[in-house]
Amino acid sequence: MKPAFPSGFLWGAATAAYQVEGAAAEDGRSPSIWDVFCHTPGNTLCGDTGDTACDHYHRFPEDVELMRTLGLGAYRFSVSWSRVMPSGTEPINSAGLGFYDKLVDCLCEAGIEPFVTLYHWDLPNALQASSGGWLHADLPRRFADYANVVFDRLGDRVRFWLTINEPWCIVDGGYFTAQHAPGIEDPALGYVAGHNLMRGHAYAVAAYRASRHGTGAISFALNSNFAYPVSDSAAGQAAADRAVEGFAGWFGDPAYRGEYPSVMRARLGNLLPEFSEEDRELLRGSMDYLAVNYYTSDFVRHAVGAGPMEYERIPQPDRLHTETGWAVVPDGLRDLLLWLTKRYPELPVYITENGAAFADTATDDGEVDDQARIAYLRAHLDAASRARAGGVDLRGYFAWSLLDNLEWSHGFSKRFGLIRCDFETLERTIKASGHWYADVIRNARSQNHGIEAGTEQPVRGGVSG
Ligand code: FCB
Repeated sequence: MKPAFPSGFLWGAATAAYQVEGAAAEDGRSPSIWDVFCHTPGNTLCGDTGDTACDHYHRFPEDVELMRTLGLGAYRFSVSWSRVMPSGTEPINSAGLGFYDKLVDCLCEAGIEPFVTLYHWDLPNALQASSGGWLHADLPRRFADYANVVFDRLGDRVRFWLTINEPWCIVDGGYFTAQHAPGIEDPALGYVAGHNLMRGHAYAVAAYRASRHGTGAISFALNSNFAYPVSDSAAGQAAADRAVEGFAGWFGDPAYRGEYPSVMRARLGNLLPEFSEEDRELLRGSMDYLAVNYYTSDFVRHAVGAGPMEYERIPQPDRLHTETGWAVVPDGLRDLLLWLTKRYPELPVYITENGAAFADTATDDGEVDDQARIAYLRAHLDAASRARAGGVDLRGYFAWSLLDNLEWSHGFSKRFGLIRCDFETLERTIKASGHWYADVIRNARSQNHGIEAGTEQPVRGGVSG
């Protein structure tokens, strides 16, 4: 039987700086907008903050050892801009940058591919306070300057880069619902922030490609749900199509062809800013690969007047839901990957996040028999392999998350980890899902005659190599 995943497939797990690092005030790090948000009463469950989180900052050698135990081929983590440039701009904080240098060395020694995100939501608060953060037209340049510092220092060992994690979530949480930092509730501003995030992505990509180490692959992490119509009417199907175009296409289209989807332009009009000709040029082809974060899908119907896109989500009470209230829809992963590959052809694809929060119960020893998480991951890996069989050039998969961590405004209440973190003692224990994932990786490698992950596939592929 043909293996479901090819040799060289990257098997990884992911985290993000503010969710795991802790050491919030150490070695010159300045507060980010997420420190400020979490320290504002009422913003997070139980007032939880990332002050200590999983203490990954100090415990990374132990965490890399755990990754080795799981047999991971890659680790996706993010760099905290506030550590590297506490004021948001020069000067560089060498202790902060040095942390990532050590982490990358440690990963390389363990044979684990570092997959680096430059911005996982934690803008230095100084930039928010002085200029309104992503609402300011110059922020994209500041971001590219910061990115350049990181490329220069880590680029000799890092081959895979992501600029921005999930612009959609930044806009939705940060500017539509105020559930995330910076906690603004003004949709018109959200479109401006989203626009500048994509400009920042484009400028950082250009900086990378011009840099001395710029021969790896760079992209941004696009999150999207897929959407299914609840009725089989033509209007229902059109509503579902609009939902996907307005979600995946909102940021995917600019990064592929330098424009927002025409259906968004037609329906949102001036709410969507225009890219300049220079921006368009930098945006076009700014993804060396598609990086897809997937958790759930939507079931929608056409709804006149329900916002400019005129569709409405219909709850699915009969479906299994995770602890974050997201419906479990593995087929949505396959359908989203097929949709993306059709719309943005010739790009290799990596699933850069996929996973589930479930109410784990731990024994006194911290053991967790998380069969629900195993079922979730198994079903999504199966969907991913079906997408591959359907023509998607899928080259890697990252489970979210390596270990339980600060789930943003939910605080520590939602556990996504393959590894349990006891937030009192900070002790780590591999869950049943972690052992299961290690088996999946081992079996996949042995089916491919033991070829090590990440060694023989080209780093770049597709349109821009
Ligand atoms: C994604 C985020 C990630 C994590 C998961 C559950 O949207 O990128 O940091 O919180 O959701």
